[in-house]
Amino acid sequence: MKPTFHQLRIFRTVADCRNYTRAANTLHLSQPAVSMQVKQLEHNVGMPLLEQIGKKLYMTEAGEAIYQCAVNVARSFEETEEILAQLQGVQRGLLKLSVATTASYFVTQMLARFAELYPQISISLDVTNRSSLLEQLQNNERDLVIMGEPPEDMSLRSQPFMDNPLITIAAPNHPLSKRKGLNITDIGDQTFVIRETGSGTRATIERHFEQAGMKIQSTIEMSSNEAIKQAVQAGLGLGIVSRHTAELELETGRLVKLPVKTFPIKRKWYLVQLSGKHLSPVASLFETFVMDAKQHETEQQKA
Ligand code: PGA
Repeated sequence: MKPTFHQLRIFRTVADCRNYTRAANTLHLSQPAVSMQVKQLEHNVGMPLLEQIGKKLYMTEAGEAIYQCAVNVARSFEETEEILAQLQGVQRGLLKLSVATTASYFVTQMLARFAELYPQISISLDVTNRSSLLEQLQNNERDLVIMGEPPEDMSLRSQPFMDNPLITIAAPNHPLSKRKGLNITDIGDQTFVIRETGSGTRATIERHFEQAGMKIQSTIEMSSNEAIKQAVQAGLGLGIVSRHTAELELETGRLVKLPVKTFPIKRKWYLVQLSGKHLSPVASLFETFVMDAKQHETEQQKA
């Protein structure tokens, strides 16, 4: 088998698009040129790689193997490019970072500082919930992930770098907002505007109530922290959110924090990678940047 890099790149794009015409547009090539390269690759490999059933294009088992090879070759090229750039004294490359929806509130500021230090590094940021992050880690799709407590049953390297307290929020005119102190039992029968299943914040809240021998009775589910804050402001119910997401509304008085005992729920943010993963030079730079920032913060707190 002698596939060329060009053929692998074309095949990967066709497999990603599941369509020859879309792949041709993405690659700025003609559709016949793309089909011919795939045919040539199949000839080189000696087996069909794609099959058309109805209007849909599927990968054969051999296709899946060649696809994985194409991904590995592309990654290896990217890493080599970065190493060569570093040897020339240039810090260049692509940082592929995924973060929990809730972390996006501070990560963009972090990335702005990082981009200022390393203007030649490109950044691809994916913002998604905890369960998708775990899937991405499992498939080795990203360099690094920022998420809440990582699960113990996965082989991961995780470094805590920042607190993530969860607080109870209410509209300023909510009857409970005038109370000086509240027990968790005082809020148990309230309606909560809560994140979707799969969210780390939601799992933590459910665990917290369970530990108190309670279960939230009434919920309205939303997949965005912004929507939750709007809903709480509109009086739809109480919310439990990471303090990072609500700083502005608390400052301006559009939301208030309820003084509930056992809150804030103490949580941390972690920088996570698949254990044993070889970090690209750019990802290593970002790791050092995040952990140095933590060190700096701890020193400032001590001073
Ligand atoms: P989430 O994750 O945005 O999926 O809720 C945050 C977390 O894990 O704390």
